[in-house]
This record gives sequence, C-alpha cells and structure tokens, in this order.
Amino acid sequence: MTAVMTEAELEKDFEHTLSRDQRIEPRDWLPEAYRKTMVRQIAQHAHSEIIGMQPEGKWITMAPSLRRKAILLAKVQDEAGHGLYLYSAAETLGADRADLTDKLISGRQKYSSIFNYPTPTFADVGVIGWLVDGAAICNQVPLCRSSYGPYARGMIRICKEESFHQRQGFELLMTMMRGTQAQRDMVQDAVNRWWWPSLMMFGPPDDDSPNTAQSMAWKIKRHTNDELRQRYVDMSVPQAEALGVTFPDPELKWNAERESYDFGPIDWSELKRVISGDGPCNAERIANRRKAQEDGAWVREAATAHAKKKEA
Ligand SMILES: [Fe+2]
Ligand SMILES: [Fe+2]
Repeated sequence: MTAVMTEAELEKDFEHTLSRDQRIEPRDWLPEAYRKTMVRQIAQHAHSEIIGMQPEGKWITMAPSLRRKAILLAKVQDEAGHGLYLYSAAETLGADRADLTDKLISGRQKYSSIFNYPTPTFADVGVIGWLVDGAAICNQVPLCRSSYGPYARGMIRICKEESFHQRQGFELLMTMMRGTQAQRDMVQDAVNRWWWPSLMMFGPPDDDSPNTAQSMAWKIKRHTNDELRQRYVDMSVPQAEALGVTFPDPELKWNAERESYDFGPIDWSELKRVISGDGPCNAERIANRRKAQEDGAWVREAATAHAKKKEA
C-alpha cells in the first residue's frame, strides 16, 4: 500500500525528476506555477501556428505556378497541424481548447508578433520560409528536450516539418535570384523588411526577460533569448551570402575574437508596439481568426450532435 505523499514530498519528487533530466508527464504531480507557465507557452505557440497561416495563406490563390501552389498549400496545412498538436498538448494540462481560442480572439493571449507584418509580394513567401521558419527552428530545436513530455515530443515532429519549410523558402528565393533583376530586387526588399522582425522573434534581451530564469530552472527553456538570437545570426549570414542578398544592418560583421557575428542594436520599442497590438496587421489577423471561428460554429455543433447520436 502506498502512503499519501505530502505536498513537500511531491515537490521534491518533481524536482528530482527534473534533476535527472526526465520528463514531466500529464499524470505526474506538478506545481501550479509550472502548469500555468506551460499552458501559457504552449497556447501562445499554438496560436502562432494558426495565425501564422494567414500571411502566406493569402498567396495560395495567387501562386505563380501549380508547383508553387502545391508546395505552399502543403506548408500552410502543416502549420494548421502544428497548431492542432499544440492545442492537444495544452489539453493534457487541463486547458480547454475552446477557451484558449476565446482568449486569443479576445486579445487575452498572445501570438508571435512576427505574423503582424504584411506580405505584399511573393518573395515574402520565400523569406518567411527561410528567415521566419529558420528562427522558429532555432527556438524550437532545444524545446525537443523541454521538460514537459507531450510538448517535447510534439516539437520533434514539428521541427522536422519546419526544416522542410525552411528549405522550400530558400529554394524559392534561389530560383528568384536566378531570375530577372526585378525578381532579385523583390527578394532583397523582402529581406530588408523581415530581417529585424525575425531577430525580435527570440524575445526581449536577457536583462529584460524576467521569466527566463524560472523557465530555465524548470528546464522548459534550455538557452536564453540572446544565446538563441546569436546562433540564428551566425547561421543566417552565410546563407544570405550563398543567396546573394544582404541584411539591412551596417554593423553586422564577423568578430574573430568571439567567433560570432556582431550586429547592430535592435529597436525594442517596435517589438513592444507590435506586441501591444499596434503592428501593421494585428487587427486584420484577429478579425480573420474571429470570422473563421464564427463561420465554423455550425460544423462544431454538427460534429458534437453526431457524436452524441452515435453514443446513444
Ligand atoms: Fe509551424
Ligand atoms: Fe513552419
């Protein structure tokens, strides 16, 4: 017979699991603050996948060839799938998916601010794949070792698909760079618009990121925002050279001593402004999501009625 464990013993057990680098699973006891943090992070991630379908989704009907349309359709569909895995992972922590969606469309939960920027040309599709999915990979590969089991396992599959997304973006840009001067200019213009926002995807600088220490202690996060941002810059510069584009940063240069690239200061006021709702497309993104939710209400009702009928 097992004795009932006290809260202190449960807490010790939880810490012990973390210290052995083992996973926390849905049936395990966990501190309420850990659960809250995890739900917030997973929900924000799920919302980003779903909202992230919009900037590229608008190009599906305008893709320049059947091949590009098929690739883009598959990519946007993958993002929907990522959202679904993640909402399911949040449900293992007791969150309710309808409630999370409600929090998104009422502005009580956030999504990545990168998806509040517009996509005026088809080169944006390539640059999102290359830079935005590329930054997402840098952020997410370490999350495959995150302490919460369902999240970590979901991230393994998501990262494999993100890696396809990045390659398709790079391949699209390579093709455009081999095209006309107008196409090359279009690529450079898109790179100029996306470079700085992509650096902001790693979040505020470490000295202004109050939650990082706790998330690292819980092994939810494995690296700080600035470490990941540096890794992304170091990875992206040689790729830009291979492509034949430049990043809009005169201070970007190799630092032999650090064996890394130095880069110029990031305009954090812009990130704060876009996060707080004042980005170029915030209102449009949420309005679209709300409309989709309302338009789909009858489908959810019909599915629920059908399930009840079958059960009876
Ligand atoms: Fe994704
Ligand atoms: Fe992606």
